[in-house]
Amino acid sequence: DYEKYGVYDMQDKQALFRLIQSIGASESATPPLDDRSSLDCHPIFMAPDPPKIRVIVRKRPLNRKEEERGDSDVLECDCATSTLYVNEPKQKVDLTKFTERHTFRFDDVFGEDVDNDALYCTAIQPLISTIFRRGKATCFAYGQTGSGKTYTMQPLPLRAAVDVLSVLSTPDFHGVGLHVSCYEIYGGKLFDLLNARNKLEVREDGKRRVQVVGLREVDVHDVDVLQQLVEHAAASRSTGSTGANDESSRSHSIMVFALRNGNEPKRPVVGKLTFIDLAGSERGADTYDNDKQTRLEGAEINKSLLALKECIRALDSDARHIPFRGSKLTEVLRDSFMGKAARTVMIANVSPCSSSCEHTLNTLRYADRVKADAALDAELSALMAAEDELVAAHRQHIEDSMAHVREEMALLGELDGGGAAGDVEAYAAELTGLLAEKAAAVAALQLRVTQFRRLVQTTLERHARAGSGAGQQ
Ligand SMILES: Nc1ncnc2c1ncn2[C@@H]1O[C@H](COP(=O)(O)OP(=O)(O)OP(=O)(O)O)[C@@H](O)[C@H]1O
Ligand SMILES: [Mg+2]
Repeated sequence: DYEKYGVYDMQDKQALFRLIQSIGASESATPPLDDRSSLDCHPIFMAPDPPKIRVIVRKRPLNRKEEERGDSDVLECDCATSTLYVNEPKQKVDLTKFTERHTFRFDDVFGEDVDNDALYCTAIQPLISTIFRRGKATCFAYGQTGSGKTYTMQPLPLRAAVDVLSVLSTPDFHGVGLHVSCYEIYGGKLFDLLNARNKLEVREDGKRRVQVVGLREVDVHDVDVLQQLVEHAAASRSTGSTGANDESSRSHSIMVFALRNGNEPKRPVVGKLTFIDLAGSERGADTYDNDKQTRLEGAEINKSLLALKECIRALDSDARHIPFRGSKLTEVLRDSFMGKAARTVMIANVSPCSSSCEHTLNTLRYADRVKADAALDAELSALMAAEDELVAAHRQHIEDSMAHVREEMALLGELDGGGAAGDVEAYAAELTGLLAEKAAAVAALQLRVTQFRRLVQTTLERHARAGSGAGQQ
C-alpha cells in the first residue's frame, strides 16, 4: 500500500526514494493503525491496490429473441490484450454494404463467457482493501437498456458482503460494523428503497459533507440479511419496459456499504463502498417518444450521465473545480469521489447486437473518454515528478557551484601567498581541473533541461491530441 507512504505513482522516483529512506529510519517505530500484521496475510489485503479509475467493458451474449430475428454479433473481445473490436455494418451512398471496424482498449474487456463471479474477483474485490484502509470505493455500471447493467450489479453487493464480513470478523476490526442503505434517484428526487420509498432530502452538513437525510441504514451481520435487502430494494425500484428489456430500470439505484466505528448513534464512517446501477444511457436520446413522463425521465437521466462524465474527467485531470452540482447523482456521489484514497471502477455494459451498434459505440466512447484521461493523468504526474527532479538537480548544482567558487578563491589565496614559477604551474593545473569540473556539471544540467523540455513537449502534444477527441479509431 504505497499511497499510505506518500507514493501515488510508481514512476515517482523521489517519493519512492523517500519511502526507502523512511523504512530505514522507522524500523523501530510502531506500524500505522491500518497496517496490522495479521491483515497483511489476509487474502483480500494481498490483492494489488486498484488504480484511481479502472474502466472495464462487459459484453453480454445474444439472447434467443435476438438470434431468432437474425441479429448478428458485432463485437469481438480479445481479453488477453483488453481490446474490443466493433464491426459496424454500414452502407455507402450507392447502397453497397461494408463493415467499419472500430478498436477500443480498456483496463479489462470481459466477453460473454465471463461470469459474475469472475468479474467480481477481478474488478471489485480489490476495492475491499481500499475501504478497510479508510478509503471510498465506487463501482458503477453504464450502458444502454438491456445491456446487462442490473444483471452485472445486482450480485456484486452479495459477493462483497461475504468479503467485508470476513474481514470484520478479525480482531483488528472489533467495534466496526457494516451498515447498508439503498436508494434510487428518479426524476431528480431520492427515494429510500429499504423504507417504503420514503422521499429523501440531500443536505450539506457544517463540514460541507453531503448527507442524505432520513435514509434508513440496516446493520448487516450476515449475508442472508443482505440477500433480503437486495431483493427488497430491487422490488421497490421504479421499472418499466423497453423494447430491449421487459424489466427496465428507470432510475439510478445506489447501494451503500458504510463501515462505521464505535457505538454512539452518529458513528463515524471509516470506509465506504458504493454500487450504482445507472438508468439506461439511451434514455436521454429518446426525444421522439410522445410520452411526456418518459421524455422528462430521459432529460433528467441525460443530464446526470453527462454530469457524471464531467466529474470523472475533472477528477482525473485533478481540476480545481469539479462540477458536482450538475445533477443530484453527482451531488450525492461527491464525498465518494473526493480524496486521495477514492477508487472508482466503471463497468461499461454492451449488447452484441448489430441493431444496437450505435448505442454500443456511444457507450464505448463515453468509457473511452474516462480511460483516455486516466492515461493522461499518469503522464502528467510523471511530468511533475520530472520537474521536481530537475529543480532538485538545479539546487544541487548551485550548491556545487558555490563550493567551486570557494575552492577557486582558496586557490587564488594560495597563489597570492606564494609566487614561485612552480606554484604558478600547479595553480594553472588545478584551475584547469576545477574549470573542467564546472563545465561537466553545467553540461550535465543542460542535458537534464533538454530531456525535461522534450518530455514537456511530448506530453503537451499528447494532451492536445486527447483534447481534440481522438480517443477512438
Ligand atoms: N452477461 C449476461 N449473461 C446472460 N444474460 C444476461 C447478461 N447480461 C444481461 N443478461 C440478460 O439480459 C437482460 C437485460 O439485462 P439487464 O436487465 O441487466 O439490463 P439493463 O442494462 O439493466 O437494462 P435497463 O437499462 O433497461 O435497466 C436480462 O434478462 C438479463 O438476464
Ligand atoms: Mg437495469
